[in-house]
Amino acid sequence: MPHSKRVLVVGSGGREHAIAWKLACDGAEVLIAPGNAGTALVGENIPIAVDDIEGLCKAAEERQVDLTVVGPEAPLVAGLVDALQKRKLRVFGPTADAARLEGSKAFCKKVLHRGDVPTAGHKEFRRAAEAREYIEAREETPLVVKADGLAAGKGVFVCSTKAEALEAVESLAGDEQPILIEERLDGVEVSVMAITDGRTIVTLPPLQDHKAAYDGDEGPNTGGMGAYCPTPFVDAALLAEIEEQILVPTIHAMKRGRTPFQGLLYAGLMLTPQGPKVLEFNVRFGDPECQPLMVLLKSSLLELLDAAVDGRLEDVATPEWKDEAAVAVVMAAEGYPGAYARDKPIRGLEDAAEIPGVEVFHAGTRLADGDVVTSGGRVLAVTGTAPTLPQAKLQAYTGVREIRWVGGWCRKDIADKGIRRERELASQGD
Ligand code: AMP
Ligand code: GLY
Repeated sequence: MPHSKRVLVVGSGGREHAIAWKLACDGAEVLIAPGNAGTALVGENIPIAVDDIEGLCKAAEERQVDLTVVGPEAPLVAGLVDALQKRKLRVFGPTADAARLEGSKAFCKKVLHRGDVPTAGHKEFRRAAEAREYIEAREETPLVVKADGLAAGKGVFVCSTKAEALEAVESLAGDEQPILIEERLDGVEVSVMAITDGRTIVTLPPLQDHKAAYDGDEGPNTGGMGAYCPTPFVDAALLAEIEEQILVPTIHAMKRGRTPFQGLLYAGLMLTPQGPKVLEFNVRFGDPECQPLMVLLKSSLLELLDAAVDGRLEDVATPEWKDEAAVAVVMAAEGYPGAYARDKPIRGLEDAAEIPGVEVFHAGTRLADGDVVTSGGRVLAVTGTAPTLPQAKLQAYTGVREIRWVGGWCRKDIADKGIRRERELASQGD
């Protein structure tokens, strides 16, 4: 038997379970640090935290891993890739300098301008007082107020009035970091991700995330309550436009700015009447956007990531995707996105996993005396795959119905926006 590749996946969410699951399907031996109760089913969990850069480097060296894949943004921004590269270890993901594309919104805007990439007009302020003056001097207009740094979705305030914008600035006033004020863009939000080696990109199918906590996009923002793929809001022509006007120029602008980007580039886009515009970049797979992608990818993820790390994406065949749709429904703990309950035993996981076309990816789970219990706010991403989007939704919720724990809940309308859009397009075509 040839030695199968050993891959270390860093993280403990649904995204990392999906990546580890796919890599295991591709024949890799997978280690996950620190992982969760689900990743333990597809590989070996090693108890090292994502912010323990020294510990992760040591593990990668001692376990002789062929490749490390970094899931979350925090260790990327903190320099995990740089530390691994210093030890001549192969790693998929951007360096700390390149990860500023997500870690600093001001840096992101600089890159967008350098690449002439469409985005919301903005102003940057070092001090809250200046931001306040700027808002007060303006006509009544919708604005978005953002903290510069990583804030796990909590540093962005989409405001309809000047009073709201002033309140947002007030809530950021104690911080040392710059404040950005942007024009508010209106339209449909979509996500497009690409794997890149810094020169060539491989664009993945477009998705839609569901950031609001409750049905009908009501309630506070979360890390994401569900996602579906592909989204009918982006057809092949629009995807080509996004690639040519947004993704490729961004990669080139990063290279020109001496922060070449290798890894996963995630563009959060607003489809405005003037065309797609960038809301934000992430420097890693989205969670839960990664889950539908992984179940739809027919080609080897391992080969793609390997090629990106080695700078030979140009030579890799275009990946093949199932001609199907996938829907990931996040099941959350009682209280999420606020303070949430923990340690609730989860029932029905095996029954759900037995349903054809259903994969249950774990996020906030852990093993306690052989029982799977909740340990995070977003607990599971139940992912259904089927030939059509309505069927994939049905599949996902069929899985959800098998699973229960005290206080567990989910949105009931994941993918509905896409299903409605498909109907609209079909009726227009009649
Ligand atoms: P960000 O962290 O920059 O992606 O912002 C989080 C969310 O805020 C986005 O997913 C959008 O829903 C919203 N948002 C950010 N910037 C804008 C903008 N310029 N116009 C409208 N909505 C925005
Ligand atoms: N689901 C949004 C994100 O991963 O950033």
